[in-house]
Amino acid sequence: MKKIQMVDLKSQYDKIASTVNASIQEVLDTNTYINGPQVHQFQKDLEIYLDVKHVIPCANGTDALQIAMMGLDLKPGDEVITADFTFAATVEVIALLQLTPVLVDVDVVNMNISIEAIKKAITPKTKAIVPVHLFGRSANMDEIMAIAKEHNLYVIEDNAQAIGANYTFADGTKKKAGVIGHVSSTSFFPSKNLGCYGDGGAIFTNDDALAHKIRGIVNHGMYERYHHDVVGVNSRLDSIQAGVLNAKLPFLNEYNTARRLAASKYNAAFEGNKNIVTPAFDLNGDDHVFHQYVLRILDADRDALMQHLLDKGIPCAIYYPIPLHSQKAYLDVRYKEEDFPVTNQLVKEVIALPMHTELDDEQIKFITDSVLEFLK
Ligand SMILES: Cc1ncc(COP(=O)(O)O)c(C=O)c1O
Repeated sequence: MKKIQMVDLKSQYDKIASTVNASIQEVLDTNTYINGPQVHQFQKDLEIYLDVKHVIPCANGTDALQIAMMGLDLKPGDEVITADFTFAATVEVIALLQLTPVLVDVDVVNMNISIEAIKKAITPKTKAIVPVHLFGRSANMDEIMAIAKEHNLYVIEDNAQAIGANYTFADGTKKKAGVIGHVSSTSFFPSKNLGCYGDGGAIFTNDDALAHKIRGIVNHGMYERYHHDVVGVNSRLDSIQAGVLNAKLPFLNEYNTARRLAASKYNAAFEGNKNIVTPAFDLNGDDHVFHQYVLRILDADRDALMQHLLDKGIPCAIYYPIPLHSQKAYLDVRYKEEDFPVTNQLVKEVIALPMHTELDDEQIKFITDSVLEFLK
C-alpha cells in the first residue's frame, strides 16, 4: 500500500508535472517574477470560474482577510462577529486592525457559525459578520445575508477552505461560496483545495468601488505610482505561484470531486456506527468540497483513537483543539462558557482523517478498518 499521508501533494504534482514545470519555466525565462502575465491570467480565469466581477490576488489568506476588512473602512472598536470554531487567522486580523472580535458558537451539524448566536451577539456597534466556510462547506448564507441586510452589516466570507463549493439558496439557485457576501477571502496554501507551492491568497468582490480600493491597498495604497492615497500593505501573489495556480485551476472541479468521492467511501464504511457522526452531504450535489474530512467521536476516547491511528501509520489531526474564546490572545471578560456549548463539545469530539485528491481504495479501507477496529 502507498504510504498514507494527510495530504499527498507529490502524487498530485506528478500527474500535472509537465504543465506546472512549463508554467514555472515561463516565469524564469521571461523574468516576470512580480505581477507577470501569469498573475493576470489567473485573476481572469478565477473570475470566470467563480462568476465574480473582481478577483484581487494577494500574498496569503490571512492578508486577504485583513485587506478585505481594510477596504470596508471598519474603525477601531467596531464589532465583528465570527465563529469560535475556526483557524485563528480569522479572529487574528480582526484584532490586529483594532476592531473588536465577537466570537460566537457554531452549529453542531455543519460546524459553521450559528445563526441564533449571531442574532444574540448583535449590538449597535456591530459592523460585520465573518462566516467561515469550515472544512469545505458553506455557512448558512441565506440567513446570514438576511441578518446583515436587516442590521446593515457587511458580510466578509472567509472562504479559505471551500473554494469551488456551491451554495444552494432556499429558492434553489446556486452560487459559489465566496461570492455571496460583500467581499471574501481565500487561501492558496499548498494543502488547500486549490493550493500553490508556497503562499498565496485572493480577495473576491462584485463591488467595483471596493475592488478599486482594495487593488490600491494591496500595493502600498497606490492608485498612481508613488502617490499613496490610503494606508496600504505589500501583499502580492508572485508570478511563479500564479503559474502553478494556472496549471491547477482547470483541475479544481476534478480535485473536489475526488475529495467528495473519498468522503463518500469513508461515510459508507462508518454508516450505522454508534460512536461516529459522519459529515452529511449530498454525493450528487456540490455543497461540500471536503477541505477536511472531520468525524465526531461520541462516547469513546477520541485521543486514544488518534494514537491508535498514528501507531498504525495513519496521519490524523484535531481541527481545532482549543476554542478561540479560550486562547490567551483572545480572552475577553464578556465571554461566558455557557455561550459556547457546541464549540466546547466539538473540540473534544472531532478528528480529521487523511483527505486529498489521491486517496485510493486500499488506503481508505485500511483507514476505516483501523478506526472501526478501535471502536469495536
Ligand atoms: C479558515 C481559514 N482562514 C484563513 C486562513 C489563512 O490562510 P493563509 O494560511 O493562506 O494565510 C486559513 C488557512 O489555514 C484558514 O483555514
